Amino acid sequence: MELLQYCNASCLLFISSLTSFLLIFFTLAIVMRKRVWCSCEICETYSESQWRIQFQNLCDWYTHLLKNSPNRTVHIHVLNNTITANPDNVEYMLKTRFDNFPKGKPFSAILGDFLGRGIFNVDGTFWTFQRKMATLELARVSTRAYSFHVVNLEIQQRLMPLMASTQILDLQDLFRKFSFDCISRFCFGLDPTRLELSLPLSDFVASFDLASKLSAERALATSPVVWKVKRFLNIGSERRLRRAIGTIHVIARDFIRERRKLGFSERQDLLSRFMSSVGDDKFLIDIVISFLLAGRDTVASALTSFFWLVACHPDVEAAILAEAEEVIPAELRSCDQLRELHYLHAAVYESMRLYPPIQFDSKFCLEDDVLPDGSFVKGGTRVTFHPYAMGRMEEIWGSDCLEFKPQRWMRDGVFVHENPFKCPIFQAGIRVCLGKELALMELKTVALSVLRRFRVELDQPDQPPCFSPGLTATFKDGLRARIRARLI
Ligand code: HEM
Repeated sequence: MELLQYCNASCLLFISSLTSFLLIFFTLAIVMRKRVWCSCEICETYSESQWRIQFQNLCDWYTHLLKNSPNRTVHIHVLNNTITANPDNVEYMLKTRFDNFPKGKPFSAILGDFLGRGIFNVDGTFWTFQRKMATLELARVSTRAYSFHVVNLEIQQRLMPLMASTQILDLQDLFRKFSFDCISRFCFGLDPTRLELSLPLSDFVASFDLASKLSAERALATSPVVWKVKRFLNIGSERRLRRAIGTIHVIARDFIRERRKLGFSERQDLLSRFMSSVGDDKFLIDIVISFLLAGRDTVASALTSFFWLVACHPDVEAAILAEAEEVIPAELRSCDQLRELHYLHAAVYESMRLYPPIQFDSKFCLEDDVLPDGSFVKGGTRVTFHPYAMGRMEEIWGSDCLEFKPQRWMRDGVFVHENPFKCPIFQAGIRVCLGKELALMELKTVALSVLRRFRVELDQPDQPPCFSPGLTATFKDGLRARIRARLI
């Protein structure tokens, strides 16, 4: 009987807290005049996911909308989101009026549980501090040499043996493992496969993927009320997200503990540097997570698209190999040799132009503003620039914009940089990617090493990529391929 009364009381308490919570949220939504419903064609197509009828990927629908907009900018009312593929607008947001387009509080709230105060998720002093520390470390000549050593070691000891021993494999999965090991060694000076961890490393990786996917799904909701209520009640996707983040924290703490055990004052890796100035373990965990996210999924995504495109374009593959044969006939020995491979560099850029690892990126407008194309942006609006759509705009790349043509990046046999605001795959301006050089070195070293030793034949060569929702572009069904050793 007592148990029954106790249960009834708990139920009542639960229902009344839920009701008050919902009331507060809906009142707030009304007071803040957030438009969570709109009957215009674009908003209805988004809200009812009707875009799926015609397009395989959300990014393809956005590209279609942006192509049809005279100034290459559209506004999705239900998301209070202005989306642009106009390079002048991108430069304005990322450079000219950088201070008026921060990451902003709504973005930090969406990713806050996962990324905390990590560099990806903050503005102001937390951002300045991490940016300064990481810039110092990444700019060092010894860091570049060390990262080349790490990448080569991983290629020779893990990637090559695996490719040689398996005939059919999922390249995306392979590249994710590879880039995770590289970034862990590089950023934390640790080989993740040799650590004593409280939970299996596979749990960490699976939780990382899940947390990234569920956090990105929060951003797709037309109103934050839904996920906030679910988080308050700890139900559904929010319950899974909380669990995944719990697992990530346990293992990230292990990374920090191991680093402390092995000593950090004399070490040159990124984590050791941060540990000598940061005493707060939670902040260190946030830093670890942001760098893992930065260096793992992006590189794996870029490699997956690159091998998909190259396998579909044997002429490009032949040109890469011919250049390598001429410039570096023997083994690749140093990072500097890579600089001579202009065609390979162009092929890597060209694949990211068409398939940027981060397909779109958002900021929040602080005060009312007018973009260079004349679009008025009200303070509080989310403003997104869309590298995936920008790679498909004829006025930027010409009528052959949909073709994979590395030579478009070359003049007289030499790679020529484009205006970064036309192709912001590494972002551009004041918050440009800190790992750009490291990433390009990693991509080119893997591309060269793999293509020289193996032929990659796709399982389904004519299948265009279908992406799953996430912070980084991921092929929904992986990239299955047959690997054949080249006859030397
Ligand atoms: C192909 C690979 C990569 C691509 C396409 C890429 C792209 C990007 C983009 C678009 C951003 C801006 C994100 C935002 O602020 O919303 C960014 C930021 C960043 N990236 Fe990369 N990235 C890559 C690899 C790496 C690697 C290997 C590292 C490793 C150190 C790294 C470190 C960072 C950091 C620390 C930031 C934050 C910069 C800041 O907020 O000031 N990235 N990257």
